[in-house]
Amino acid sequence: MTSARFGLPHRHLRIIDSTNERARELAETGAPGGLIVTADEQVAGRGRHGRVWSAPRGKALLYSAVLRPLDERHSLLPLAVPLAVCEAVEAVAGVSCRIKWPNDVWIEERKVAGVLLEARPPDWAVIGVGVNVAIAADEFPDDLRWPATSVGGGATVKGVRDALNDALSGHVARPPDQTLDGFRDRDALLGREIGWAGAGEGSGVARGVDERGNLLVETADGELALGSGEVTLEVRA
Ligand code: BTN
Repeated sequence: MTSARFGLPHRHLRIIDSTNERARELAETGAPGGLIVTADEQVAGRGRHGRVWSAPRGKALLYSAVLRPLDERHSLLPLAVPLAVCEAVEAVAGVSCRIKWPNDVWIEERKVAGVLLEARPPDWAVIGVGVNVAIAADEFPDDLRWPATSVGGGATVKGVRDALNDALSGHVARPPDQTLDGFRDRDALLGREIGWAGAGEGSGVARGVDERGNLLVETADGELALGSGEVTLEVRA
């Protein structure tokens, strides 16, 4: 497909292990780009770095979209997807979203959405998005890595889904400079002290992203660039 349009076909399941897993299976057996899988409930929802993603039934958007084929236009997909999520959330509620690199979406320093990309280049990528839409504060597990929040304001799962279909369709193949500009406008880490672990560990001050979407960090030993697949981050100040 020359420009991706998400939402058709649409498979909705009441309960599933993971919408990403189902979308992967469908992508591997030739599902068209644009296909989305959604569910009311996941019993084995996947987060980044092998973590579990859970949400009470019917209160979160659990969404996985197939993008295919992949080419150089999609090199900034990890930044483009959270931008689309921000736009979708802001379209349905009077809130303003920022992004904690690489792709957590925050409302006022609390995580409202997460993104899990799984890809087999150059054939396909599965864009997995979980958005807390109407989860009450006391329904979140106590052991969350980040304080969590919901879109709220009367937003519905269907409303967020439709808005995300629209926003993703616009964002996935946007020229890189537009994606970078959009990300920089919403960069929640800029100027903040962060620490990381994974491929080495360290700390420093976040200084934005480079043209490949890596996070630039000023450390005591000079500036370095962190790749999104390599590290987990914490914000220290
Ligand atoms: C993260 O922040 O760790 C990423 C969370 C991604 C969760 C979504 S929910 C829909 C899709 N299916 C999954 O199993 N995971 C993603």
